[in-house]
Amino acid sequence: MSDIDWDALRERAIEMTKRSYAPYSKYRVGVAGITDDGRVVAGCNVENAAYGVALCAECGMVSELHATGGGKLVAVYCVDGRGEPLMPCGRCRQLLWENGGALCRLMTPEGVQTMAQVLPQAFGPDNLAQRP
Ligand code: THU
Repeated sequence: MSDIDWDALRERAIEMTKRSYAPYSKYRVGVAGITDDGRVVAGCNVENAAYGVALCAECGMVSELHATGGGKLVAVYCVDGRGEPLMPCGRCRQLLWENGGALCRLMTPEGVQTMAQVLPQAFGPDNLAQRP
């Protein structure tokens, strides 16, 4: 899909930073993604007094993806509290790989890249298919 409305995704991600619950790090994150059937799903980070329990914004977005009918992510835009593109953490790249695959496109600080570029040699569902 080359017709992704990146500006609209960014706006939705910025809206989500306003819902962020980040009283400990004070680092707001918002993310929005578009699915292969055209839905927009989004999330914000949700922290916890038990710091390690914090949920990244991408976790919320993936939860909404499944809660609203599943499918695959085709494009994702994650932003920090300034509205600048934020490179998802390693764990969240794995989440995006599972739910978007190699060709899912991600806005990064260096422009649009595919998941295959930002998570090379990823472990994924194909590996499990190789079980003896
Ligand atoms: N965070 C995300 O929401 N997504 C990422 O990909 C990186 C980090 C959040 C987790 C925590 O609430 C805050 O940013 C600081 O690490």
